[in-house]
Amino acid sequence: MSTEPAAGPGAAVTVNGAARALVGAQPPVTALDWLRGLGLTGAKEGCAEGECGACAVLVARPGCDAATEWTAINACLVPAAALAGQEVVTAEGLGTPDALHPVQHEMAVRGGSQCGYCTPGFVCSMAAEFYRPGRTSFDHHALSGNLCRCTGYRPIVEAAEALGAPAAGDPLAVRTTAAPPPVPPHRVAGWVRPATLGEALALLAGPGAVAVAGSTDLGVEANLRGSRPSLLVAIDRLEELRGLSVADDVVEIGAALTLSEVERRLEGRIPLLDAVFPQFASRLIRNGATFGGNLGTGSPIGDLPPALLALDAELVLVGGDGERTVPLTEFFTGYRQSVRRPGELVARIRVPLPLAATTAFHKIAKRPFDDISSVAVAFALDVVDGVVRRVAIGLGGVAATPIRATAAEQALVGAAWTPDGIAPATAALADAGTPLDDLRASAAYRRAMLGQALPRLLAETLEGTRP
Ligand SMILES: Cc1cc2nc3c(=O)[nH]c(=O)nc-3n(C[C@H](O)[C@H](O)[C@H](O)COP(=O)(O)OP(=O)(O)OC[C@H]3O[C@@H](n4cnc5c(N)ncnc54)[C@H](O)[C@@H]3O)c2cc1C
Ligand code: FES
Ligand code: FES
Repeated sequence: MSTEPAAGPGAAVTVNGAARALVGAQPPVTALDWLRGLGLTGAKEGCAEGECGACAVLVARPGCDAATEWTAINACLVPAAALAGQEVVTAEGLGTPDALHPVQHEMAVRGGSQCGYCTPGFVCSMAAEFYRPGRTSFDHHALSGNLCRCTGYRPIVEAAEALGAPAAGDPLAVRTTAAPPPVPPHRVAGWVRPATLGEALALLAGPGAVAVAGSTDLGVEANLRGSRPSLLVAIDRLEELRGLSVADDVVEIGAALTLSEVERRLEGRIPLLDAVFPQFASRLIRNGATFGGNLGTGSPIGDLPPALLALDAELVLVGGDGERTVPLTEFFTGYRQSVRRPGELVARIRVPLPLAATTAFHKIAKRPFDDISSVAVAFALDVVDGVVRRVAIGLGGVAATPIRATAAEQALVGAAWTPDGIAPATAALADAGTPLDDLRASAAYRRAMLGQALPRLLAETLEGTRP
């Protein structure tokens, strides 16, 4: 079997409605570099690491509530090659000075722009929310990945809140009713989009090949740390990795689904994940970041592993020899290491049902939103007649890997759900892991955060602020 998809169809991108040949688009050229090279210089580079949103553009993606949805992404993180065959709209494609798009109009008349550096990025994030199917009010999280250093956010928020519905016949709204662009196989030096999972696995078996999904981690590695894998194998659009199913006893989540897609498609079925989503990076990042990528980094401070540990999840891994299932408790083996074999992928995540009735995700970071965890604590427990009957606690940021707080769990099962009843478990939780001093927090602070997590959860449940 050939493992070399032809560089063929798809070597063009529809940009603002016009086909543009995708030339000069091999890594490390980013989508942002390539678009700016076309003269579309509205999108800017502010940070090159997904933090500022100055680079935001819209891409047409498969929708949850419509056939196609305009999705805002950080163009600085995505390889240009990933745009092959796709449809992109930049701030220039939304409107012109003589015929402003409604978003641009509101930003202009409400004073939402001063130096203008951030404005095209804000406009694209705002436009994605403007076109969101079924929108009844403006979701402020849509702008959570866009920073402005000089205007101040009030006029920007006022512009967003002033938006009505798209006019009848608005071409971008009309576009959402038709199928999304297909994702053709494509290859350039250093980057390949295989057609099937089988092709991807064959390519990944080769030396130096690295899987890339949303590129929100690998893009930072390339831009800031000069990482140059010899071959990036794009797996983000492989249908085999993009299923989501709900059965009586299990929810299965495809590893190549983005956090935004899972949030929309689960429709609140897993409240613990719903608690994680708004605390995970920004909307722009969540539109690219996948579940598989968060597990694939093996990071001890990723936010999904503690939550998935508390949910008692299993991972289905797939490689050349087929599939195998590994409990998440056995997946991580050391700092950024796991039982995943070379070339093997996370195919899907299995969350057993029924879920525990009380869940919570405490993310302690320097900012409430758009920041990496110093400590993360995820809880899933059942309290029956005032006694804890089952509990799982997942922790991030307190050891070389995400871990379960097993001693605290054991102390909690059978205990009264009262301040006195949880005291032994609180002491055990404060002693969990092997926290270190680093730039984000000291070991003592991390222990203090662990020590107050259970009393905080108890207070929240007694006050009725938790289910
Ligand atoms: C500004 C910013 C903020 C962030 N904030 C957070 C945050 O709040 N919380 C958090 O947890 N993370 C955060 N991240 C990190 C990142 O967004 C996540 O880790 C994300 O889930 C990575 O997914 P991806 O699809 O982009 O991975 P990629 O960058 O495509 O890949 C990352 C790694 O995973 C591997 N990989 C990808 N898919 C698979 C798979 N299916 N199986 C096996 N390996 C795979 C790749 O080979 C690579 O080694 C942030 C990143 C940025 C840039
Ligand atoms: S340039 Fe800052 S997020 Fe892309
Ligand atoms: S208008 Fe200057 S950075 Fe936002």
